[in-house]
Amino acid sequence: MTNKIRNFCIIAHIDHGKSTLADRLIEQTGTLEKRQMQEQMLDGMDLERERGITIKLTPVRMEYKSKSLNEKFILNLIDTPGHVDFAYEVSRSLAAVEGAVLLVDATQGIQAQTMANLTFALEAGLTIVAVVNKIDLPAADVAGTRRDIAKLTGIPEEEVLLVSAKTGAGVPELLESIVKRVPPPSGSEEKPLRSLVFDSFFDAYKGVVTYIRVVDGRIKKNQEILFAGENVRGESLELGILNPKESSRDELCAGEIGYVATGLRDVAQARVGDTIIHFKDRDEKGNLVLPGYTVPQPKVFAGIYPHSGEDFRFLRDALAKYRLNDASLQYEQETSTALGQGFRCGFLGLLHLSIVQERLKREYNIEVTITVPSVAYRVKLRNGETQVIRTPTEFPDPSALESTEEQWVLVEIISRALDIGGILPLISAHAGVHRNTEYLSAERVLITAEMPLREVVIDLHDALKSASAGYASLSYDMLNWRPTDLIKLSILVAEETVEPLSMIVPREQAQREGRRIVAKLKEAIPRHLFAVAIQAAIGGKVIARETIPAMRKDVTGYLYGGDVTRKKKLLEKQKKGKKKMAKVGSVDIPPEAYLAALGKSE
Ligand code: GTP
Repeated sequence: MTNKIRNFCIIAHIDHGKSTLADRLIEQTGTLEKRQMQEQMLDGMDLERERGITIKLTPVRMEYKSKSLNEKFILNLIDTPGHVDFAYEVSRSLAAVEGAVLLVDATQGIQAQTMANLTFALEAGLTIVAVVNKIDLPAADVAGTRRDIAKLTGIPEEEVLLVSAKTGAGVPELLESIVKRVPPPSGSEEKPLRSLVFDSFFDAYKGVVTYIRVVDGRIKKNQEILFAGENVRGESLELGILNPKESSRDELCAGEIGYVATGLRDVAQARVGDTIIHFKDRDEKGNLVLPGYTVPQPKVFAGIYPHSGEDFRFLRDALAKYRLNDASLQYEQETSTALGQGFRCGFLGLLHLSIVQERLKREYNIEVTITVPSVAYRVKLRNGETQVIRTPTEFPDPSALESTEEQWVLVEIISRALDIGGILPLISAHAGVHRNTEYLSAERVLITAEMPLREVVIDLHDALKSASAGYASLSYDMLNWRPTDLIKLSILVAEETVEPLSMIVPREQAQREGRRIVAKLKEAIPRHLFAVAIQAAIGGKVIARETIPAMRKDVTGYLYGGDVTRKKKLLEKQKKGKKKMAKVGSVDIPPEAYLAALGKSE
């Protein structure tokens, strides 16, 4: 049975046509009729479709009859996300397949993500099927792109396929290549069950559903199972394949990809990367567990507060529901004098943070204020204690502080050689140390550098994209903790400290950051009837200051004697606006101010 299965994914730079090609494969194998196709079938979430990015992996099983071999095959396609925040998901999905279709847009040529994903795929030992896409476009450089791909992958030029994912041209040849070149899965049905979890989510009716690749053995309905890494017991209440909707079966065997409904209530128990084994084999757990299981750690921390205090309950419920489908979000309740009740959350990166924020707004209709994001720091106290702190509020009093440390990471940037000039200054501007530049080909380079995590998560990704016209891609690994002289920069509005605006920064940057923030806040906070001082301070010492002058006129003054309803409306509007703002003493701080402090404008 396994020799008739082909498991593969499509790897490509953003917008090179991955989802469109997946649609054509689903269509040409007759998995779905044309009229059933919703464009970009695999990008299930609205947010993904709108932003054109893939966040979640949705596998699809297709049946395909090869004309040249005159045999039927089962093709399992897994989609992969592209952004660095989700690198862990990419590596898990690559571990679930044997082949990768490397897709390159003929109008763009090989780009950063192509290289980064190809490297991942080769490291995972996958067979590469190389494809030039968008050959229908007049601007396509088909021959040049084909030559470059051949050079990069070592695949003979004539074996690099030419496809239009839009018109479907070349897709039949691609399907033939997949069954001929991608090796069948190598597992054995006779061995004890072990299967890799490459995605999990919560379903209101079925509980936690996992997407799995069965590596060895078989799993049947209603069996007791164990998540070997988390050591959590569950039951295979329902299982089946995805074509692309869930379609129930009695069993899944070695080599197959499908879903299992586990009866669990919390996705955190069914982590991506874990191994499902039979509960009866629990004593053999150590031998059965698949390699590479780690829990992705949140790297960025920030507070989430509802705009209006009454929404706190809704926010609490929304976060609980949201987390059912995204175990990488961590949160705990906290209270701030300025913002009221809210939550301190941990995210994988800033994109993850903005996705959470946007989904809360769209799916739960809750507007939130996000405090200045921070990474974790380690502080040593005079009394010998060591603490890891995740928020400026936890920063100890300077008198108790012995020393401070932050995490450093090894950063790998793949870019066009012509962008080196723009990228190297970014490394030093982000407090990094350049280690090496290696030419991967005449046009591509791999730049390695050591940098503080703080600098990487906040804006390195965006800065790289703008320095390289979107071509450079980034990945990083933790190195170690290193001493840095860190201080807590407090922000005072009208002489009162606004805790959610404070941040932890290296001492030598404090002055510059302080000046930047107070200037931004001056623009973001509206005028009041009195002058408002905005100050940045270390300990009690003010290092930067701006003043918002008092408002000169009563807003409704010029309406006296005029239309009363208009005046009422205006006051009403003002009242509404006020409700949204957090009050510090007698000063209203709008939610945008928190974003301004981050250095982002929206
Ligand atoms: P991400 O999910 O963000 O990585 O993007 P993607 O690689 O899935 O790209 P997608 O399939 O969304 O395609 C990007 C754009 O290219 C869309 O507007 C497609 O319609 C278009 N496109 C994809 N393939 C072809 C093709 O062969 N020819 C033409 N003309 N357009 C194509």
